[in-house]
Amino acid sequence: MKKITPEPSIIAADPAHIAEEVKKCEAAGVKMLHIDIMDGHFVPNLTYGPSMVAAIRKVAPKMELDVHLMIYQPFDWIEQFARAGANHITFHLEATEDLEDTIAFIRRCNLGVGIALRPETSPTLLLKYLDKIDRVLIMTVNPGFGGQEFMEEMLPKIQFFREKCDMLNIPISIQVDGGINLATGKKCVKAGASHLVAGTSFFKAPDYKQMYEDLAALGK
Ligand code: DX5
Ligand code: ZN
Repeated sequence: MKKITPEPSIIAADPAHIAEEVKKCEAAGVKMLHIDIMDGHFVPNLTYGPSMVAAIRKVAPKMELDVHLMIYQPFDWIEQFARAGANHITFHLEATEDLEDTIAFIRRCNLGVGIALRPETSPTLLLKYLDKIDRVLIMTVNPGFGGQEFMEEMLPKIQFFREKCDMLNIPISIQVDGGINLATGKKCVKAGASHLVAGTSFFKAPDYKQMYEDLAALGK
């Protein structure tokens, strides 16, 4: 029995009804919500800024907000997202040369810190930071858009991190993001993932509570 944390990704919710959707997530038992921040440069799409995180924080004061930065120069935005009410900040390894400083600053803000890897990024580049972070985010689609198809070839990358972390006794969580549904989520859990980000599959589900429970039960 493994503890699985499903994380609905708000990018797939109806943008005209974010507050209601967040409330529905809360009622469905969601503990952690994933918020995708895109800058139109690091990825070919734009989403939200810190004010959206602040608005969600207001609607759901107890929800853990997991902010996924798909932006260049993430360091410059950490303080604003921290003030807005983020609990975790994940930035991309490819987005900055100041990895150490960015990790340290997120910590100084008292937030959980994660590093994300695009599908084409080699997992070995992250090894020397593994003991400094709380989670690794393995992108299972090319970042930028919801609703894409899961990349099966990412499964060995998940396994690679699971094995390394177990071997070195590093207790970080392994998060997957992109194209996750009950079938692909199961494969990821088997490969060693503990956090499942689900956008389309969650917000298109007829019953959020059932979907949340089904995702969480993939660890059984
Ligand atoms: C992709 C984002 C994901 C994505 C999830 O760049 O980081 O969070 O929107 O959406 P689905 O589950 O629809 O792939
Ligand atoms: Zn994401």
